[in-house]
This record gives sequence, C-alpha cells and structure tokens, in this order.
Amino acid sequence: MIQILRTKAEVNEALADFRSSSQAIGLVPTMGALHEGHLALVRKAMSNGDVVVVSIFVNPIQFNNEEDLIKYPNTLDKDLDLLEKEGVRFVFKPENHTLYPNKPTLEINFGQVDQVLEGAKRPGHFNGVGIVVAKLLNIVKPNRTYFGQKDLQQVAVVRSLINDLSFSTSMEVVNTVREKDGLAMSSRNLRLGVEERMVAPLLYQCLNFAKGELLAGKEWFAVKEVVMARFEKEPLARLEYFELVHTDTIALVNDLPSSGKRSICIAAYVGEIRLIDNLIIID
Ligand code: PAF
Repeated sequence: MIQILRTKAEVNEALADFRSSSQAIGLVPTMGALHEGHLALVRKAMSNGDVVVVSIFVNPIQFNNEEDLIKYPNTLDKDLDLLEKEGVRFVFKPENHTLYPNKPTLEINFGQVDQVLEGAKRPGHFNGVGIVVAKLLNIVKPNRTYFGQKDLQQVAVVRSLINDLSFSTSMEVVNTVREKDGLAMSSRNLRLGVEERMVAPLLYQCLNFAKGELLAGKEWFAVKEVVMARFEKEPLARLEYFELVHTDTIALVNDLPSSGKRSICIAAYVGEIRLIDNLIIID
C-alpha cells in the first residue's frame, strides 16, 4: 500500500529503518500529472533496487507565468494509482506552507547555464527549481535521484546544484519517452487542443531533420534557417528557440566537433502551450 508523507518528520519516520539498514533510497521529483515519462524514472529507480519516494509538488516559485501555475493539471488520484501499480512505497506530497513557511530570500546564481534558453526565457525559473530540489534532497536524503533528459537544461542545473553544494546523492538521467508520433511526453500535452496535438510533433520532426542534416555535414546556420522557415509556414506554432548546445554546459555552439557532446534544444508554442524538447546529436 502506497503511503503519503506530508512533512519532513513523516519522511524521517517512514525512511528511518531503510536508512539504518543501508537500503538505497531513490527520489523521483515530480509536479504530478504523471505520464510514461515519469514512470520511466520510477522504473529506473525500481530496477536499481531503491526504495522509491516520488515527490508530488507543484512548485510555485519556479513558475514565472501565473497562468501556467494556475492551469497546471492536477490528477492526484490517477497519479497515486499509477505509482501504486509500479510498486512505489512512498509519495512525498507536502503542502505549500510546509516547504515554504516563508518566501525564500535565497537566490541561486547558476551562472552561464541560466543565461540561455529556458534561463533567458523564464527568468527565475531555475532559481525556483534549484531551491525546491535542494529542499527535497535535504528532506528525503536520497542515495539516487532521477531526472528526465527531456529537461536537458534542468539536468545541467541540478548537476551543478548537487556538485557545488556537495549533496550526497547521485543523479541518473533517463531517456525521453515519446508518443508514437514522436511528441515528447509532458504534462502540458494534456492542454493541447485536437488540432494543436496534431501539430505538436513538429518539434521532434525538426530535431530529427536537423540531426540528419548536421551529421551529413550541413552547416548549423543553414539547418536552423530551414527549421525557422518550416515553423513560419505553420499557423498554429511559433518557434521560440532552436539551438545547438554543449549537452553538459548548455553553452550555445555552432559546430559539430570530432569529439565532444552536442544536443539541439527547441522551445515552441503550439497554440497557447509552450513545449520544449531536445535531441542528443553526439554523445
Ligand atoms: O521537472 C519537474 O517536474 C520540476 O522542475 C521538478 C524537478 C519536480 C522541480 O519542481
């Protein structure tokens, strides 16, 4: 039976025996509205033999758009059913005032990684992510924590949080799970209208197209222009960025080196819904 924990004291009590018998604890941080992408993280944690704690908390301080926060889907009963079926033991579901008795005054400066892409478009977003992830790591004290590659820049931010603040946890990054037509799983997909849903795979199509072109030796800027033109032709979609980056640092680049990690990141509005995705080009 899945157990819902609401406070730090409840987490400590529930995990005490596991901690004292050195049983590894795995944390899967989520904001709920769970889908196969989240379940892939859970399954990875289960396959590692962790006692799995899934946190469900819609973190208000990482939303720079009030409407996004208000419209964030809440599917708690379904989420709990899904997690129970996966064999998850614990859900940590704190109230807002439990995690934020006071509005945090701390501001985390992630440096360069926060100045591009999501960091540039959503000021304060990664500060909010960093603060809540630090809180979750401090409360759950997991041996391992699981993040999806879908949020590539978030992975870079959390990696620096863990390294720079010496958290005793390792991070495992799990591949993006996609719908049959390539659309990356995301809680926001639930908000797409029927026609928008048909257009949404355009993001992945452009990533794939660009990967093929780059690996065939085409210039990055020429490839990017084709993608921009493709979006111009689609009345339901608006491209926000399409960038080639270093996978770990998210620094913007414009070439494929003979060795070195490269990914392409994309953000686009489909109707009113902002979607992001990425594809690793060189691992
Ligand atoms: O990726 C998410 O769902 C959120 O950013 C996270 C990591 C749960 C922090 O609120």
